[in-house]
Amino acid sequence: MDHTYISDLPELVGKEVTLHGWVYNKRSSGKIWFLILRDGTGLTQCVVVKGNVPDEIFELEPDLTQESSVSVVGIVREDKRSIGGFELEIQHIDVHQIVKDYPISKKEHGTAYLMDHRHLWLRSRNQHAILRVRHEIIRAIHDFLDQNGFIQVDTPIFTSNACEGTSTLFKTEYFGRTAYLSQSGQLYNEANAMSVGKTYCFGPTFRAEKSKTRRHLTEFWMMEPEIAYCDLNEDIEWAEKLIVYVIQRILEKCREQFEVLERNTSSLEKVKGNFPRISYTEAVDILNNAGEEFEWGGDFGGRHETIISAQFDQPVVVHRFPAAIKAFYMKRDPEDEKLSLGMDFLAPDGYGEIVGGGQREDDYDTLLRRLKEEDLSEEAFKWYLDLRKYGSVPHAGFGLGLERFVTWMCGLSHLRETIAFPRMIYRLEP
Ligand code: 4AD
Ligand code: MG
Repeated sequence: MDHTYISDLPELVGKEVTLHGWVYNKRSSGKIWFLILRDGTGLTQCVVVKGNVPDEIFELEPDLTQESSVSVVGIVREDKRSIGGFELEIQHIDVHQIVKDYPISKKEHGTAYLMDHRHLWLRSRNQHAILRVRHEIIRAIHDFLDQNGFIQVDTPIFTSNACEGTSTLFKTEYFGRTAYLSQSGQLYNEANAMSVGKTYCFGPTFRAEKSKTRRHLTEFWMMEPEIAYCDLNEDIEWAEKLIVYVIQRILEKCREQFEVLERNTSSLEKVKGNFPRISYTEAVDILNNAGEEFEWGGDFGGRHETIISAQFDQPVVVHRFPAAIKAFYMKRDPEDEKLSLGMDFLAPDGYGEIVGGGQREDDYDTLLRRLKEEDLSEEAFKWYLDLRKYGSVPHAGFGLGLERFVTWMCGLSHLRETIAFPRMIYRLEP
């Protein structure tokens, strides 16, 4: 198929091209009508002039309803006023399908309705822009890690053990045994890091989150680096460098998408590094000073995160949480056994926790004791304990939640729009 894309038009002024796409919009004024075509790379205006095309082409106008699929042939013209800066003087139109009753019109629909039609909603301008930003973020993450010597090693999705607590495990039958969908690739990352030094995995993770919030999916993508010979401070530095790199990249590459989304990027431009770091205890003080009654030892909810992050215009790193509220694998702070060497990054403007991680327990006996305290099966973690028997070293890592990150970048109020087909407690379709 002869194929030119709308994004190629700047190089093709004066030439005849064929574009394949869908009718986005149209308007008519007697002897001339305009069709706005979309093809996945952009939008462009096609001009159909009576007398310049055969009558049967000119008369197609009433039939070409929204999302009808067409191929158009025409000459490319520069036109600053036109959407995308170019337009096509039409010579011919091939109709692939005329659409009847497209369920999504330009009028406002409720979110539930749009979510039910997610497979079609994805074609709208905003959703398309979000998908592009997500793509660019993924690319930037891979580039940063590759440039810094991280080796991507994929971790399994079927697992026999819990990484992030047993309350959010998805169970499935596995040839007469029980398997769980991975909550995090971390434990396997730790094994991989002992082979390649700096590793990362990037894949879907699953949590049977019973809470219905704007920050939780049951299936979300997580990017998780893990570094051998690394302590909590270096771990924080890696996460910070990654975030700054990704933001710079998308500020540069996604201008057009941010315009479509009407995302004011001035707050993102402030994210330059040297993120403030506060201890959990200091974060509790911030809450209490803000008039929020919060007792030391509790876990932060979304509202608490918003109050804490409101004090800063860059992401804030909260470290040294009470060990009792953190996972079994976290190393205790040698200065205070009640604390764990974990950290969370809270995004500004109330976008919540985007990164969680820390230094891992590297001592065999301590880890075994922690497993027992948490009632986790020693048998299932036998291989994991091996890592503390054969060349154990200090190591650390973190997980960045992709959908949370995209939500923040795009300035959205709910993370359901950051993944093509979100999975939530009440949403398995489409
Ligand atoms: O803080 P979490 O639970 O950390 C871990 O899973 C570690 N094992 C990661 C590691 O150290 N390798 O999750 C990491 C991040 C969170 O900060 C958040 O951004 C995101 O994953 N996240 C979710 N995103 C969407 N929906 C959910 N239900 C999420 N749960 C966590
Ligand atoms: Mg966390």
